[in-house]
This record gives sequence, C-alpha cells and structure tokens, in this order.
Amino acid sequence: MRLTVIGMGYLGATHAACMAEFGHEVLGVERNPDRLAKLKDGEVPFYEPGLPELLKRHIDSGRLHVTDSYDAAASWGEVFFIAVGTPQKRGENAADLCYVDSVIEELVPLLEHDALILGKSTVPVGTAQRLADRANELAKDVHVEVAWNPEFLREGFAIQDTIHPDRLVLGQFAGGGAEAVTREIYAPIIEEGTPFIVTDTATAELVKASANAFLATKISFINAIAEVCSAAGADVSALADAIGYDPRIGRKFLNAGIGFGGGCLPKDIRAFMARAGELGAAQALTFLREVDNVNMRRRTRMVEVAREACGGSLVGVNVAILGAAFKPESDDVRDSPALNVAGQIQLQGASVTVYDPKANPNSRAIFPTLSYAESTLEACDHADVVLVLTEWAEFRELNPYDLNSVVRQRIVIDGRLCLDKAQWQSAGWTYFT
Ligand code: UDX
Repeated sequence: MRLTVIGMGYLGATHAACMAEFGHEVLGVERNPDRLAKLKDGEVPFYEPGLPELLKRHIDSGRLHVTDSYDAAASWGEVFFIAVGTPQKRGENAADLCYVDSVIEELVPLLEHDALILGKSTVPVGTAQRLADRANELAKDVHVEVAWNPEFLREGFAIQDTIHPDRLVLGQFAGGGAEAVTREIYAPIIEEGTPFIVTDTATAELVKASANAFLATKISFINAIAEVCSAAGADVSALADAIGYDPRIGRKFLNAGIGFGGGCLPKDIRAFMARAGELGAAQALTFLREVDNVNMRRRTRMVEVAREACGGSLVGVNVAILGAAFKPESDDVRDSPALNVAGQIQLQGASVTVYDPKANPNSRAIFPTLSYAESTLEACDHADVVLVLTEWAEFRELNPYDLNSVVRQRIVIDGRLCLDKAQWQSAGWTYFT
C-alpha cells in the first residue's frame, strides 16, 4: 500500500521505516530542514539501535521517500499517519496540539481523493472527534475519515516494538472503514496472533493515556517504597524482586532510582490530568499529582545524597556524572532526570563533568554550562564523587579498580541501583544510593 507518515521524529521515522519493511511504499513528511536533509541521505537524526540500517535500506531500495511538501503528500496515497509531537504547553500541564492541528489544516484542503487519517501521536481524549469535525469542514468534495491508532513503542526498542508490538489498538467512528485498511497495513503483525483491539476513538485515546499513567505510577510506587526503605535501612531492589515474583504485580517497571523522564511519561501524565480537569473528572486523577511529586522528589533527593556524601557542601567539589540520557540506548535528554540532577548539583557550586555514550551533543545543546567528557575515565579525573545516573551497560559493567587511581575520593552514588555494591565496596569505595 502507499502510506504517508507525517512527522519524522522518533515515532514517525521508526514507523515509516518499519512500514517499508512490511513492503509498503512510504512517503515521510518532515518540515525541519536539517532533519529532512539527513533523512534524505538515509541518516537518522537521533540514536535508535538498528534504525539507521533499516532506514537506509529502504531509502536506497526506493520504498521510502521523504519530502517537506504537503502537496506531494496529498497526492501520494490514501492513508496518512499523524506522527508529529504533542509537547507540554509552555507554563501549563496540557498538551500543545498545534502540530497535530496544523496537519489537518494543511493537508485536508489539498486532498483530491478520499482519505484515511490515522493518528498515532499521543493526544488528549476527544482530539480525534475534534479533528474529524474540522477535516469535514475543510474537505473539498472528498470523504476524509479520521481514526486513532496509538503507538506504544519504547525508545531503544522502537523497531522491535513496532514490528512485534504487544497489541494493536484502533479507535474508529461508527461505520468507518479504518479497521479493514488497518488490518491490511498491519497484516504481518496480525498474522503473528497479536491482539488487535478495535474501539471507539475516545477509548483508543484513553488506552494510551492510561498505559503511560500506569507505568509512571508503577515507577513512582517503587520509588515511594524506596524512600521508606532508606528510612528503615531496607533494600528496595531485593524487595522489588520479591514482590515482582507475584504475577499480579510483575517485576518490570519496578526499578527504583532517580525516576522517569523523557519525552512521554512526564508530559503525558500532566496532559492526562489537565484533560480530566476539562472533563470535570479532575478528582479521579489527583493521585497522578503525587506520582509526579514522588518522581521529582527523587531528583532533589539525589542532589541531597551527593551533598551529604561530600560532607554537607558541594561548593568547589568535582563531580563526575555518568549518564545524561533519560534512559540507556537513547540519546534523548528531554526531561532527563540525569541532566536535571547534574544541573542542580552545578547550581550548588560544584564543578560538574558529564559523560554519556550517546547523549553528550544533545546535553551540550540544552546545558552548555556543564563540562563534557569523552569517556568515563576523563569524566572521573580528580572527581570527589561519581554519580551513575543512566544505567548504560558500560557503566553497569565498570570495574571500580580501573577508576581507583583516577578519582580524588572513592565515593560512588548509584542513582539507578545498577552497580554491584559489594564489588565497589571491596575496591575501597563508599557506596550510596
Ligand atoms: C514510554 C512508554 O514505555 C511507551 O510505551 C510509550 O509509547 C512512550 O513512553 P519511553 O519514554 O521510551 O517509553 O521509555 P520507558 O522505557 O517507558 O522509560 C521511561 C522512563 O522511566 C525512563 O526515564 C526510565 O529510566 C524510567 N524507568 C523505567 C524507571 O525509572 N524505572 C523502571 O523500572 C522503568
């Protein structure tokens, strides 16, 4: 089939490349000129394992094209995926839908044939209805159907999550033809027996919001328990293992540490609260405010642990920060807990050097006042304290003896509970969490 993917960021570029892998002919639309130029050359403008190879293969094979032209998009095919960003509005909790809205405003007046617009971006409940109404107003003698097909991919596993998702969800309006088209697009996934849930659009929108709210709640739950464990001298990792064996609880997303960040969970739980408020259901989601509070407190607490570890003041202290991305296997620093902690520590008078295997350039762009190193050893040179804030494999596997002669003091703070405490202690390190 001929498919168009509008917005070629983390979500859109992955989706476009994977749809080409399924054999579809795909046109990606990207308005950012730098990003467009890279994509045209088969380069991925961010780090996602496996994606550069997949994207290049399909740009070279001619099955995937990119453009910045809505005219070209309008005449390409009948199915349009919306994959543009829905960031948090400045100074508000709500999602900013200007990019989603502009897809409808720009695309629909250009359509000269019937079309199906499948939204993938995470949007507040009610958006599909609003966009469908607007598309109806803008359409010129053509029928434009809007349906919602939320995406659940994780950065770092984006290809696997797109090609072999846990489930497919489609929200369509009564009498719509989206289900048949979607079944054809995702035939290889459906043939694997993947659950395909067809609902109304409001439910599909809420599935995505609820999934992210649940995941955020799970992380903040274990981090709240971590606070109690710290007070009681208990071990939250052993506790998570023990409760995680209960299949009703499950061990996934029970890793305590400095909490969740990134371009999705933080802004999505806030947008969910904001939307519930607009619907008169604010009270139902007040617990998400606490989920957010617990999460933010983890960052502040990490700074306090660092200060205490350094004798009560960070002024003039050399701090090595290992990890800047919001999670491993990503160069994404949007709302990264690691960078947030690095910034707070610097504001308390420390000299901070950050090293991340992939996220140094993005970190430098938003936090130019921090120092950046090209390796763990360089970051730890003369460090008084070393903080591990993103659990990249190269940090988890660090041999503390290799750092012994480099640092000024052997103090390590394990912000992701990812180090072998006994190993670090036997190498002479004081270990904090
Ligand atoms: C998330 C959802 O998982 C995905 O389904 C949705 O489509 C987009 O948002 P992503 O933002 O890529 O995906 O990252 P995820 O793996 O969910 O991690 C989010 C944050 O939670 C990271 O900062 C991670 O470090 C943190 N986290 C995760 C924890 O602190 N503890 C855990 O146990 C798991």
